[in-house]
Formats: sequence, C-alpha cells, structure tokens
Amino acid sequence: MTSTFIILLFSQVALLLQGLPRAVSLQSPSVEATKLGCPVDTDIAPCICTVDSATAEINMDCSAVLGESELKRIFATDFLFPDLHKLVIQGTEIDPVPIQTLEADTFGKVSFNHVVISNTDLRSVASSAFANSFPTIETMDVSNNRIPFFPFEILAQCEKLTTLDIRNNVLEHVSLLHSNSLRFFDASGNVGLQYEDEVFQTAPMLEVINLSNTNLGHIAPLTFAYQQRLTTLDLQGNSIDYLYANALKFMSSTPTTVNLDNNRIGTVEKDAITGLAAGSILQLKNNMLTDLPQDVWEDIFILLQGTATIELDANLIECACNIKWLVGNSVYMDTLGDGKECDDMTSIHDPSLINFINQHC
Ligand SMILES: *[C@@H]1O[C@H](CO)[C@@H](O)[C@H](O)[C@H]1NC(C)=O
Repeated sequence: MTSTFIILLFSQVALLLQGLPRAVSLQSPSVEATKLGCPVDTDIAPCICTVDSATAEINMDCSAVLGESELKRIFATDFLFPDLHKLVIQGTEIDPVPIQTLEADTFGKVSFNHVVISNTDLRSVASSAFANSFPTIETMDVSNNRIPFFPFEILAQCEKLTTLDIRNNVLEHVSLLHSNSLRFFDASGNVGLQYEDEVFQTAPMLEVINLSNTNLGHIAPLTFAYQQRLTTLDLQGNSIDYLYANALKFMSSTPTTVNLDNNRIGTVEKDAITGLAAGSILQLKNNMLTDLPQDVWEDIFILLQGTATIELDANLIECACNIKWLVGNSVYMDTLGDGKECDDMTSIHDPSLINFINQHC
C-alpha cells in the first residue's frame, strides 16, 4: 500500500514538471521585455541600456566608457528609438570617467531629456554636442568635471531646460544667460569665476542661484533684481567685503533666503539690501561687521520682521550705545537670531548687555 502511494506521488510530480514551460525554470521572465527599445547589448557595451517598463523611457548608463571615441562609436549605432530619456556618465572623485571632450558628433542622432555627466575628466563641451537635445533637454548636471568654458549660448535654444548644475568645475566665465525656462543654476565651487553684471537679467524664471565658493569679490547693483520667483540666493564662502547700494535689491514676490555667510563683509551701504518679501531670511554669519548703524539697518529689520530671520552670529560688532535702537525694540530683537555678534564674543541678546545699554545710553 505504501509503495503504491509513492509511485502515484512520483507520477504526479512528473506530470507537473512536464506541464511547465522550460524557460521559466531557467531565467526570470522579465529580462527580455525591459530591453525592447534598446540597441543590441554588444553594440553599445560597456554602456548599459534599460527601459522603464511603466513609462517606456529609455535610459543609458555609460559610466564605464574609456574615452570619447568609444562614446562616439556607441552612439553611432542604430537606435530605433533615438529619443532617450536619460544619459548617465558618472565616476567617483577618486576614479573619474576618462572622457575629456564632447564634440558635435559625439552623440550621433540621439537626444536626451536628462543628462548627468559628473566626476569625469571632461574639459571641453562643443556648443553643438547636445544640438539634437535642444528641444528636449530638461536638466543638465555637469558637476565635478574640469570644464573651463561652457557654451552658455545654447540656453536660448533649450526651451525646456530648468536645471543647470555646473558646480565644482574650473569655470572661468559665465556669459549672459538667456533663458525663459531656467529655474535652478548652480555654479558653486568654481573658484575665480567671473561674470557680466547683467548675467541673470535675461533669465527671469530663476528660483535658485548658487554662486557659493567662487571667490566672488563684489556684487554689482541690481544683479538679482530681475528674478520675480527667486527663493534661494547662495553667496556663502566668497570674498565679498562691501555691499553697495542696490547690490541686493530684490523684486521677488516669494520669500527668499539670502546666504552671505563666511564672507568678509565689513560695510553695508544704505539701501544695499531691499525688496525682500515677507518671510525672507538674511544670513550674514561669520563676517566682519563692526557696527549696525540705525540709518542702514533699521530698514532691513523692518523688511525682515519675523522670528530669527536675520543671522549675524560671529561678527565683530561693537556692542555699546550704537545698538540702543536695536536692543530697545522687542520686534527687532525677535528678528535677530541667537549668536555671538559682538566683538567680545558676546550676544546682543545677553540680558546684562541690554541692561547696561538701557542704564547708560
Ligand atoms: C550651494 O553650493 C554649495 C557648495 O556646492 C552647497 O554646499 C550648498 O548647499 C548649495 N546651496 C544650496 C542652496 O543649494
């Protein structure tokens, strides 16, 4: 009786195995499906092409390429669907991808919506390298390369481009940005960057401008006055020592965070900082302010009225009768954040200082 049962069981299992298609037990079923739309793997190796099964977007990762001639050969292959979604060529800080130039024909007939070329040896980008992508490109991340000159003139033709991240290159100059779509511009970490005073006047949609750590020495009047949607201006870690009238005149209808931390600002002229919308924040930590003259600063405190919306930590302010106008006004004192603003490393919020000023001034 037991042996009959075992034979029966075996025959059941055998039947079951016969009924299964052989491929299922050998490989996962979805591998072939995700490659629809990509060229043959071997034609584009070492690039890897993948297709998002939900959106049908075709993406290429070419982080393993050994140079621009290889890149050119790969993009010269026949792409049945040349409208790629995203290109990634990304190395690491210690192991950058060894491509140096992008030429007019590097990408063949292919176009992209998003490009990330980061941590590579890239040092030259032809203005026509992305010509096929002008109508489609939305974001371009070319950070952490060795680019001294970027063809900023292409922006006028890239009508969907919202983001240009070119931080940590060796960029020497930014020419006028002509764009009605650009919202995020990051050129931080390009030490010694020069730019025209009118650089941003023709890019009115900018929301975020980052020029931190570029060794910037001065800000020309009205440099940021043309951005009505500005939310973030990052100028920290520069060499700015003096703010002239209208240098930071804003016309934005949105609250803006203005970061001037870690500069050498010693003097702020009257009307240097104007036009900030309610809710804006002014960061001036670690600068060289020695005084807060009422005729200059009271307007700024009225403008930024709020809770800790002005940060002056780590300055060299002489804290005596000169700041009576400030310590005597509770709204202004709320507006000033905590910090050691005074030249003797004390805080303007220090109760004994406030008592002293109230008694003696
Ligand atoms: C600006 O760039 C610096 C350096 O790249 C970075 O640390 C900082 O977070 C950036 N600021 C903003 C607002 O993104």
